[in-house]
Amino acid sequence: MIIDCDPGHDDVFALWLAAGSPLLELRAVTAVGGNGTLVHTERNARIALGVAGVMDVPVAAGADRPLVRELVTAEWIHGENGLGGPVLPEPVVPLDPRSAVELMADAITASVDPIAIIATGPITNVATLLRDRPELAAGIREIVWMGGSTGRGNVTPAAEFNAWVDPEALAIVLDSGVRFTMVGLNVTHDALVTSEVRARIAAIGNGTAAFGAELLDFFCSTNDAVFGLPDGPLHDPVAVAVLAAPDAVGTVFTRLDVEVAGVHTAGATLVDLDGMLGRPANAHVAVSLDVPRFWDALEAAIARLA
Ligand code: BDR
Ligand code: CA
Repeated sequence: MIIDCDPGHDDVFALWLAAGSPLLELRAVTAVGGNGTLVHTERNARIALGVAGVMDVPVAAGADRPLVRELVTAEWIHGENGLGGPVLPEPVVPLDPRSAVELMADAITASVDPIAIIATGPITNVATLLRDRPELAAGIREIVWMGGSTGRGNVTPAAEFNAWVDPEALAIVLDSGVRFTMVGLNVTHDALVTSEVRARIAAIGNGTAAFGAELLDFFCSTNDAVFGLPDGPLHDPVAVAVLAAPDAVGTVFTRLDVEVAGVHTAGATLVDLDGMLGRPANAHVAVSLDVPRFWDALEAAIARLA
């Protein structure tokens, strides 16, 4: 599979779950502007892999802004560089010279079997791939995306951050017909970084876990300051858990649309759980999380890293 991300504290844990899972083979990582600007997110992705000793996965930079809107970053949660907290080492993983779209296209073409894409940021790169290289859609097994919500948002009352940053990109992905799973705030808010979780991660005892513990300290402090949530929700690895921890994430197949025109509601994800619209189902939407299985999978994955 491919991870398209905007690290971001929780994106780092998504990368680690993918890299350390015995069920997954991470073939490529692409970065997008989101939590931080692209110069930070592509660098942070390379740092996250390097800290974990993952040296053989190419990392490419993609879009530095949404398709039509201005980029708004989330430094209120992730700090000015996207990964506030630890002193960041120099990246040891080089930046691949290909663009994100080129790298994803090469990974899809090179794969014998259709490949999954897990997106944990604004979905600009994936939309650009599907818009510019539609013939590659058949080589994508599925797209799993952390974003949206069946209920309230976290950047406006209506919208979750990743959906709000680039709703036009999400609309393109939904229109593509590729199997799509949305893992939204309604389930990621069950993945709370409690003091018990922090203790478990710190106790793993490798360098990845030590770096991760510092990330969590910062992430929980900003979630406390902004949302009053000292046990911050670790959103992004829940999307990876759809593939890395089978049956941990419960989904329903339903109608999903994204608001691209709202004055107050841009980026809202409309999930027609009650079938009110009578429109055909087009997305798998996460509705439940087996929390112990999720943390078990993440802990085991980190333990397999450096
Ligand atoms: C999403 O937005 C970002 O801040 C996180 O990395 C996550 O992908 C949660 O709304
Ligand atoms: Ca993210």
